[in-house]
Amino acid sequence: MGAAIVDSQLPESAALADEVRTGLQTTPKRLSSRFFYDAEGSRLFAEIMHSPDYYLTRSEYEILETHKADMLRQFSPGNQPFELVELGAGDGLKTKILLGFFESQKADFTYAPIDISADALDGLVADVRRQWPDLQVNPRHDDYFSALELLSQETDNRKVALFLGSNIGNFAPDDAVDFYQQLHDRLQPGDIVLTGFDLQKNPAIIHTAYNDREGLTKAFNLNLLRRINRELEANFDLDAFDHYETYNPENGEARSYLVSQKVQTVTIKALDMQVPFQPGEIIHTEISRKFSRTQIEQLAQQTGFSVTAWFTDSQGYFADVVFER
Ligand SMILES: C[S@@+](CC[C@H](N)C(=O)[O-])C[C@H]1O[C@@H](n2cnc3c(N)ncnc32)[C@H](O)[C@@H]1O
Repeated sequence: MGAAIVDSQLPESAALADEVRTGLQTTPKRLSSRFFYDAEGSRLFAEIMHSPDYYLTRSEYEILETHKADMLRQFSPGNQPFELVELGAGDGLKTKILLGFFESQKADFTYAPIDISADALDGLVADVRRQWPDLQVNPRHDDYFSALELLSQETDNRKVALFLGSNIGNFAPDDAVDFYQQLHDRLQPGDIVLTGFDLQKNPAIIHTAYNDREGLTKAFNLNLLRRINRELEANFDLDAFDHYETYNPENGEARSYLVSQKVQTVTIKALDMQVPFQPGEIIHTEISRKFSRTQIEQLAQQTGFSVTAWFTDSQGYFADVVFER
């Protein structure tokens, strides 16, 4: 890829080293899903978004296409200026529906995408600047927890935070409450958060989304081991691990695991670590939580927001929900 467009001092390699050191010495072993998104992980996720089994992207795409005018009315009544800040923007595939529409309506706004993946952010920013050269874009290569201060910067303009693609599903329930409390603390009255929530539905549909027929989710999950091999000089044998997914309809949690296929010991040279695995032993890599309408309303209520709009797709699979501070 060409020269980076987005400046960064984000110490991702140090964060990965900490995560691997701690997570692979814990029982059961675990690694955080935020480390999925190196260049190859971001590329694989873009492929997953086009997979026929991964209904999430299609559903949210439909919502944004159908309701973009209602969303603009929510964000900018009377064409008031606003600052659009996107947490975990990725390649912005769906956000571009909004950006294109807002530009066509001559809305007065700026766009600040935030992501820990430099590759995803670089691609997004290059694309947005090419398509809409007049739009002011202020990218930030950062963790969205550290970037929250952007939301508390003094300005007369309304802040609109986008948190699309069911990113919220990767948070444990208490962490989600904590995150929305932090958002509430930083935003001003009248500011807005638009969140994409994947809704509870037939468990078989959810299970298939994370066990797609093309094996993309499997490749995405295994790529985490490839990243550790490259960045931390490890020797994970990718053929000796499999992908496994569970969905528990009682608590709405889809969970991804990597499963050791045999007795093996992995060496992680940069950390001076040996990691033993038993056959069938797992590394837990991701939670993708699915929500009921009641849970979403409770999240807003517990963290001091009001639900002011609720947009869903024709199948009722996904919801983009407006919380107003
Ligand atoms: C599931 S993808 C969704 C992307 C986009 N929001 C969408 O709807 O298509 C998650 C994105 O969040 C980013 N991400 C994950 N954890 C993050 C964190 N802690 N801080 C900033 N970005 C993060 C990843 O790099 C990835 O681009």
